[in-house]
Amino acid sequence: MQKCNAVTGLVTVLLLLGCGDDTRNDTGNDMHNGVLGEGWLLEKESHAARFEQLESYLGGFSSAMWETGHRYDVVHAAIAEGNHALADYHWQKIRSAIRNGYTKRPARQANADALFLEGPWNALANALKEAKENEGANGAAVREAFMDARSACMACHVAEDVPFMNDQALFRDSDGF
Ligand code: HEC
Repeated sequence: MQKCNAVTGLVTVLLLLGCGDDTRNDTGNDMHNGVLGEGWLLEKESHAARFEQLESYLGGFSSAMWETGHRYDVVHAAIAEGNHALADYHWQKIRSAIRNGYTKRPARQANADALFLEGPWNALANALKEAKENEGANGAAVREAFMDARSACMACHVAEDVPFMNDQALFRDSDGF
C-alpha cells in the first residue's frame, strides 16, 4: 500500500504541474526543455514519457494477480483457523486488486465479472459477513463458498488461456481444509 500511495502522490503532483500553469504545454516545463528535475520521472522530457514510465512500472494484469494470489493464500489459512475477520479483510482486497487489474487490462473484465466477482466472490463475502456476525457458526458455509471461489479462479484461468496457472502449489494446497 505504501508503494501505491507514493505512486498516487506522484501522479497527483504531475497532474497539478500540468494543469496549474497555462504557459506550460504538454511537454512539461518549457523552461528546461521539458525536464522538471533529476528523478526517474522528473528527468523525462515530457508528461507523456512520464506516464508511459508509470504505466510500465505499475504492470498489467499479472501484478494484480500476484497480489490476488498472496491474499488468496492468506484467506485460505485464515478460514482454516476460523479467523473470519482476517479472511474477510483479504477477500475484500482481492476484489479491489482484480478491479484494478482490469482497469489496466480491460479485455480481462468480462470474464472476471461473469465468472468470479458477480457470483462466487459475492457468495464468500456474504458467508464471511454472516460468520463474523454469528461467532457460534461452525464455518461450513464459509468453507464451501471458498471452494466454489477457488473453482472460479481456476475456471477464469482456463477461459483466459492460462490453464497452466492452475497447476501450482497455491491451488493444490488450498484444495480443502
Ligand atoms: C480474468 C479472469 C481471472 C480471474 C477471475 C482470476 N485470474 Fe488469476 N490470472 C488470470 C490471468 C489472465 C493471469 C495471467 C496474467 C498475465 O500474464 O497477464 C493470471 C495469473 C494468476 C497468477 C500468477 C500471477 C503472477 O504473475 O505471479 C496467480 C497466482 C493467480 N492468477 C491466482 C488467481 C487466484 C487465486 C484467483 C482467484 C482468487 C484468480 N487468479 C482469479 C486471470 C484470472
